[in-house]
Amino acid sequence: MTKLAPVIIGLLYSLAPFASAEPVLKIDTTKVAAHVSPMLYGLMTEEINYSYDGGLYAELIQNRIFKDDARSPAHWSIVQDKDGSGAITLDESQPVANSALTTCLKLDASGASKGHRVGVANDGYWGIPVTPKTSYRASFYAKADGAAQGPLTVGIESSDGGKVFASAQVAQITSTWQKYTATLTTEDDIPPSAASRFVISTEKPGKVWFNLVSLFPPTYHDRPNGNRPDIMKLLAEMKPAFLRFPGGNYLEGDTIDTRFPWKATLGDLSQRPGHPSCWRYRSSDGMGLLEFLEWCEDLKIEPLLAIYAGYSLKGDHIEPGATLQPFIDESLEEIEYVIGEKTTKWGAQRAKDGHPEPFKLTYVEIGNEDGFDKSGSYDGRFTQFYDAIKAKYPGLQCISTAGGKDSLGRRTPIKSRTPDLFDEHYYRNAFEMEDDAAHYDNYSRTGPKTFVGEWATREGSPTTNMNAALGDAAWMTGMERNSDVVVMSCYAPLFVNVNPGGMQWKSDLIGYNALTSYGSPSYYAQKMFSENIGDLVLSTGSEGIAVQTWQPPTRKAKTGEPSPTPPPTKQVPTLFFVATKASEKGTIYLKVVNAIGSAQTAKIDLTGATNIAPEGTAITLSSAKPDDSNSISEPKKIIPVTTKAAGLSPQFSYTFTPYSVTVLVIPSR
Ligand code: AHR
Repeated sequence: MTKLAPVIIGLLYSLAPFASAEPVLKIDTTKVAAHVSPMLYGLMTEEINYSYDGGLYAELIQNRIFKDDARSPAHWSIVQDKDGSGAITLDESQPVANSALTTCLKLDASGASKGHRVGVANDGYWGIPVTPKTSYRASFYAKADGAAQGPLTVGIESSDGGKVFASAQVAQITSTWQKYTATLTTEDDIPPSAASRFVISTEKPGKVWFNLVSLFPPTYHDRPNGNRPDIMKLLAEMKPAFLRFPGGNYLEGDTIDTRFPWKATLGDLSQRPGHPSCWRYRSSDGMGLLEFLEWCEDLKIEPLLAIYAGYSLKGDHIEPGATLQPFIDESLEEIEYVIGEKTTKWGAQRAKDGHPEPFKLTYVEIGNEDGFDKSGSYDGRFTQFYDAIKAKYPGLQCISTAGGKDSLGRRTPIKSRTPDLFDEHYYRNAFEMEDDAAHYDNYSRTGPKTFVGEWATREGSPTTNMNAALGDAAWMTGMERNSDVVVMSCYAPLFVNVNPGGMQWKSDLIGYNALTSYGSPSYYAQKMFSENIGDLVLSTGSEGIAVQTWQPPTRKAKTGEPSPTPPPTKQVPTLFFVATKASEKGTIYLKVVNAIGSAQTAKIDLTGATNIAPEGTAITLSSAKPDDSNSISEPKKIIPVTTKAAGLSPQFSYTFTPYSVTVLVIPSR
C-alpha cells in the first residue's frame, strides 16, 4: 500500500491558533519527560528468507550434508568433461561413525580417465561468490571404494565449467572416512561473479563418497564457521544494543519436534543434523546457539534469548505440569550453557565448544506469540517457566509473549505471575503506523515494561521502500518518546536473500545476494535513530501540525455477506517528532518525520535553551517518490545525507524536505 491508496481525502490543519501558519514544534529543554532506555534499539533474527543459510552464515555450499531432499541430491550435479561419464546418488548405507552424517553423496566415476574428469558440483546459494584475491577454506569428508582414489581436484569455476577461478589438489583419498581440507585462492584480476560453482573431481575411475562438503570465504573477525563481513558491517553500523534470537516462529517450529533444537546445534559441524524449519526449507544449524552468542560478542551487544515454551505453530502445546517439566529443564540447561560457569555441566560444554567465559544475559523470552495458543495454556506454562527461571536465576528478567496492554494502558492476562516485560508485535502499513505513532503516550507508567519485539511498516518488497521508512520513523518517534515504557524494540524480519525463491516474508530490512548486500530506507531510518540519541527524553508539544485524511480500507465481505460499511476516515498527522538530549555534552537530537510530498517549514521552539550553538548538523533521508527503494543494483539510491544546519537558536525555522526523515543535531556551547 502506498500514499496514493487508500485515498487521501485532503490536507487539513489541526488546532486552530496556528491554522495556515507554520506549525510549531515545542521542545522544553528544561523538562525531562523520561530517561532513554540504553537497550531501546536492538535486532531480531530468525531463519527466514535465507537469513543464515544463504545469508549471514558464510557457508557457501547448499545441502552440505545431503539431507535437504531425501529423494535426490538437491543443489548437486554431476560433472562429466569431454566424454568422461559417471553418476551421483544419495547413499544412506555409508554413515560417518559417531556423527550426524548419515546420508552421503556417492560419485560413481567409472568413466573417468586422464583428460576426462568426472566430479560433483554444488551451485551454492544462488551461485558461489567469487571475488579477486580471496582465499576460501574448502573441507569435506570422503572415502574411496577399496583402492585409494586420487588425486581429487577441488575448485571454484564458472557455472559452465569454462573458467577455473581457483583450484587445489587433495593427493589421495583412503577407503575409510576422513576429513580433507584445501585452500583455494583466486587471482588478483578476476571480476566478481556469482555465476560459479564448486567442484570436486577426479580423472581416475572408481567410486568416491562425500559428506559435509564445506566452503568458507573470509569471515567477520576471521571466525571459523563465521559470518559474512559485509552484512555484519551493516549490522554494526546500526549500533544495536541486543539481539533477540532464535525467533520468531523459527523458535516454535511447526510442531514440537521441529522446534529450535538448541542441543543439536552445538559442537563440531559433523554433529549437527540440521532440522526442518517452519519457513519451508531445512536449516543446516551451522548458525547454532554458540554462533548466535558469538554474533552478539562480535557486535558487542547482549543476547536476548527466546526459549521454547511448549507451543508450536500448528497448534500443538504441552499442558503445564509434569509433561512440561522436561521442557523447563531443557530451558534451564540452555540458560546454563549461556551464563553458567565452566564448572557447571552446560558451562563446561560451552567451554569445550570453545568459549570458556560465560556470556552476559539479562532477558529471557518465554516462547513466541503465545497469544495464538487458543488452548489457554500459556498462563500455566508461563508461570511454570517463570518460577523455575527465577528460582535458579533470580536476576534474569522474564518476558511474556502474550498479554500486553490495550490502548488505554490496561494490562491483559498473564494472570498468575507478573512478567517483567510484555512483548508486543506490530506489522502495519505506513498510514497505520503514522496514525498510531502516539500509541504509548498514554500508556500506564506502572507495572511491566514493554518490549516491542517485532515491528515493521510492510510496504515494498523484497526490502521496504521510502514510504515504509516514513511509517517506521513516525513509529520510532513514539517509541523513543516513551522509552521509559518501551525499553527495548527490534524490527522484523531483519534479512532477505533477494534471489527468486529466497523470500518467504515480504518487506524486510536488509537485502543481499551471494555477492553484495544493502540496507533499505527503513534500515537507514533506524540507523539514524539509533546512532543519534541522548540519554534524556525532552518534554515536547506542538501546534498547528497539518493532518491528512485517510480512508482505511474496507474489510472484505465474507461469502454471502453484504458489503461491509467502510470504516470511518482518520485524521493522520503529517509531521512527527521527538527530542532527546545527551546530558553530558548538552547536544539535542531532534528527529522529525515529514510524511507528505510537500516541504513543510516548522518553527522549532527550544524553550529554556540559552546556549544553542548557531551551527549544527542535519542528517536527512528522503526521496521524491515514496515508492522508491534501494536494491542490489541501486544499493544507495536512498541514504542519509549529512549537511550543515545553520541559523540555530532557541527559536528557529527549518524546512523539512518532502517525504523525509531528518535528525537535527543541535549542539550547545
Ligand atoms: O517476522 C516474521 C514472523 O512474524 C515471526 O516469525 C513471527 O513471530 C511473527 O508472526
